[in-house]
Parts: sequence; C-alpha cells; structure tokens
Amino acid sequence: MGETQYLAFLVGILALSTLVGLNAESPYRYYDLEITYGTVSPLGVSQRAILVNGQLPGPTMDCETNDNIIVNVINKLDEPFLMTWNGMWQRRMSWQDGVLGTNCPIPPHSNWTYRMQAKDQIGTYSYYPSTSLHRTGGGFGGFNIHRRPVIPSPYPEPAQQFTLTVGDWYKTDFKLLRKNLDLGQAMPVPDGILINGHPKNTVFTSEAGKTYMFRVANVGTMLSVNVRIQGHMLKLVEVEGSHVLQEMYESLDVHPGQSMSFLVTLHGMVKDYHIVASARFTKKHLVGRAILHYTGSTTPPADPLPVGPTYQIHWSMKQARTLRWNLTANAARPNPQGSYHYGGIQITRTLILANSAGKINGKKRYAVNQVSYVNPDTPLKLADYYNIPDVFNLNTIKDVPTPGKRLEYGTSVVGLALHDFVEIVFQNKEKTLQSWHLDGHNFFVVAYGAKKWTPAMRKKYNLVDSVWRTTVQVYPNSWTVVLAAVDNKGMWNLRSEIWHRRYLGQELYFRVWNDEKSLLSEADIPPNALKCGKAAKY
Ligand SMILES: *[C@@H]1O[C@H](CO)[C@@H](O)[C@H](O)[C@H]1NC(C)=O
Ligand SMILES: *[C@@H]1O[C@H](CO)[C@@H](O)[C@H](O)[C@H]1NC(C)=O
Repeated sequence: MGETQYLAFLVGILALSTLVGLNAESPYRYYDLEITYGTVSPLGVSQRAILVNGQLPGPTMDCETNDNIIVNVINKLDEPFLMTWNGMWQRRMSWQDGVLGTNCPIPPHSNWTYRMQAKDQIGTYSYYPSTSLHRTGGGFGGFNIHRRPVIPSPYPEPAQQFTLTVGDWYKTDFKLLRKNLDLGQAMPVPDGILINGHPKNTVFTSEAGKTYMFRVANVGTMLSVNVRIQGHMLKLVEVEGSHVLQEMYESLDVHPGQSMSFLVTLHGMVKDYHIVASARFTKKHLVGRAILHYTGSTTPPADPLPVGPTYQIHWSMKQARTLRWNLTANAARPNPQGSYHYGGIQITRTLILANSAGKINGKKRYAVNQVSYVNPDTPLKLADYYNIPDVFNLNTIKDVPTPGKRLEYGTSVVGLALHDFVEIVFQNKEKTLQSWHLDGHNFFVVAYGAKKWTPAMRKKYNLVDSVWRTTVQVYPNSWTVVLAAVDNKGMWNLRSEIWHRRYLGQELYFRVWNDEKSLLSEADIPPNALKCGKAAKY
C-alpha cells in the first residue's frame, strides 16, 4: 500500500469503529448522578435545593478526550427532569443532549442512562438541569475534558487544577419563583453570588511559587460575574474548548452559561488572598468570595476586596475582543491539519435573531424574532425520526425579525443543511445583557458592536483568530455576530442562558440535516430512548 492508500485505510477503520456511536477501544467512565431535594442555607436562609449526589454543586465530572461517558441520571424529584451538558457536545448524537427537543424527560422516581463520547474538546464546561427552571434550584456542576497525555499542551502542566462553579443564587424556593413566572410576574434580581455553593470561605490551598489552573463556569441564571484574585494576575488559556492567546488579566468577565480556565502563579507573600466573583451590570451589590490559601499562611486575607468593574459595558466589550484563538495550539478544528481558515468560507445563510420581551394574553413572555417558544409534548428529534406530522414546521420562525409584529407562541425550528456555514447576528435592543448558547457546535465570535447591525459591519469581522466557543454575550443595545460551520447532524438547541427568559420562550432549535441516512453522519436512536407524546406508541 502507498502512503495515501494506507492513510485512507486507517481513516476507514476509524470511521467503522465509531459507527455504533461509542468507541469500543477508548476507556469507559461511569457516573451515577442521583438527583434529590435537600436543604441548604448558603445565604443564611434554610431552603430547598436540587442536589446531585447529595451536594450543591454536584460532583465535578472529569474525563479525557475520547472517553466513553456513561451517565445514569436517577431522578428522585417529584417532577420530570433532564440534565444537559453545556458546551460538551456530542458528535452525531443529539439524542444525548438532554433538552426537551431531543429527549423525553426522565419521569419522577426513575432513571435514564446517557451514553456519550468526549471528543477532542479539551476544556472547561458545566452540566445543569434543562427543564422547568430547575437550574434556579441547583442541580449543576463542573464538567472538564482533559487532554490525553499524548496530546501536547500550550502551557506547562499546572501543579493542580481547581474547578469553580460560580453563579447567582436566590433565597426563594425555585417552585415559588416558577409559580410567579407562570402567573406573569417579573423575575426578581438574585440575592447573592455563590462560589462552589458558598457565598464565602471556600478555601483553595496552594503552594508559593507554583502555578495553578482555575476552571471557572458561570452556572448562574441571570447575572454576569467578574472574577479576580487579590494581588494576582490571571493568565487566560482556554475558553469553552478553545486554546486562546495567553494574555494576562487583572479580572475576567464570565457571563451566564460561559466557562474558561486561567493560570495563576503564586508569587505573593505567604498569606491568604481574596478570590472574588462580583455581579456585573446590576445596581445590586452582590459579591461571592473564596480564599486563596498559601500553605503555611496564618494571615487571613486583608480587606478591602480587590476592586472590579460594575457597570462598565464598554470595558467588558473591549475585554471580549481580546479573547483570540491560538492558531498554533492543538484544537478540535474541523480540519486538524491546521489549514482551516474560517474567514475564507462562503456564508450560505444569514440569520438575524432579535430577542424581545413582551406579553401574550396579558402574561410576560420572551421571544426570538417575535416567536415565544413552546415545547411540544413530542420531542422534535423523535418527531423527525418517526416522521410524526404536526409537531413542528420549518416556517414558524423567520430568518430576520418582522418589524411591528406582535409576539406569538410557536415551536421555532430553523432548517439548516448539514455543512451550511451560517452567520448569526444576535441583535439586542433591550437594556439588559443577553447570553446565547448553541448546543452541538462551537461558533466563531467575529464581532461585537453597539446599536444596530448592518451589512457594512462585515468589514469589521475578525476573520483570522476569533475565539471559537459555544456561548456568547450580547451587550445592552448592541449586537454580536458569530459564524458557525454546522457540521453536526441533529436537532440542536439555541437558547438564552438567562434562565427565566428561556423558561418563558427565548429559545429555538437548529435542525441540521441532509437526506442521506448514514450512521457516519448521525448515530441511530439509542435503544433505551424514552418515548413520550405522539411517539409513545412507537
Ligand atoms: C435504573 O432503572 C432500571 C430500569 O429501567 C433498573 O433496572 C435499575 O436498577 C435502575 N438503576 C438505579 C441505580 O436506579
Ligand atoms: C500558542 O500555542 C503554542 C503551541 O502550543 C504555544 O507555544 C504558544 O505559547 C501559544 N501562544 C500564546 C500567545 O499563547
């Protein structure tokens, strides 16, 4: 065999072995996640929370690239439940995504096993409940995909890695918050910021002179946070699975649903230092704290807390533009040979997606291009698979907003062709920050701008090294543009990470499709798939 033939042969073998979905040669990791109610009091008030294996946050899930991940979610709540893997997407397997468009919810007092494979998405992610505003009550945790030792790293191995789930928290029971939303009331501003389940005093112990990695995920429901460590600089190395140009920051903004990792070298005097996560873009002064403890220190962190930005929107936008892809570091590029230049790809479809708030039948609702999403009883993915009519159609949502149109209910699904290269303009005319997440894909964040996007803005896109991530913020009265190569067949959720907005309709699905039925482009329905709605009889 010539070299080319041999390579083609190898690729064929690899393709065959992944046909069944999971890769038999790669290690298996098994997790049991038991979902229960429990009592916690992080803000001094005893309240019900959703625990995972008895904890808030749940256990951090750590795995390596290519690992087969078998997760048994045991729902001990009194309500249907689903867990989703935020940013850790499954190739060809939207069946495992854990949102109501792809999966029937796990009924109360039963369990369901997810079977996934961590691909080459080395990075920092989170998991959280996707149903019924459950995330407001907890149920979240960190999810890290590590490189296998054979894969080179663009930074020296840190002495240790810390996972920080950071996010806003309410003292109010999530069922009451949900009831009030159902009645049409506004969502209140959260009461505090937690770092790993506590508003203060979580201790990260480390040694002078060494370098540590902090993996931070904003698992909150509404507020962006600014993260900083007293007396220490943060060297950003990774954002949602992309290695970025390693720049030093005094502090970093992390918006809802986002995650990143940075390195911190302990060059300070041996004492303790404040770790701070403070709320952004709100008048309420909310701060979560933790402690960076140098081994041997007997000195508590000194007040005052390090100062960070509060309302400065321009500051945040400027910082966002400094996050750039490291083109020479290894990455989960569509073309791993490094010849991939997204800037040269022809855009095949442009979507202008405008969020809006309004009322339908006198009740508060949120919408995208005037459609406020309603979950049908039958998951979209099952409707597709069994050709069940009248569950959704591809004309409910338009590619651009319709001026003057009132909000209406609908089940929005955008039909995209497999391998389309899509430009998505997120337009935000509201006074609050929005955060958008796409399942199943990363996208290139090519531009942020103020006021209204026009085609002339295309000249300003970063077509060389913009960060490739899954979640992006859109500043108040501003726009953000992302480019996405939709190369992952399936039904994928595009959602607001501002959780009450999603609960009240701010989401939609991308149906990434071609007519060729091949297990190479999409895995078959899992044998344990739950059936519900019109699919119950299959
Ligand atoms: C999960 O459910 C199956 C039946 O569907 C049952 O056999 C199994 O024991 C359950 N496992 C746990 C841990 O609850
Ligand atoms: C980019 O990645 C390369 C290869 O891993 C690494 O050597 C380099 O330091 C990185 N550059 C920056 C600016 O982070």
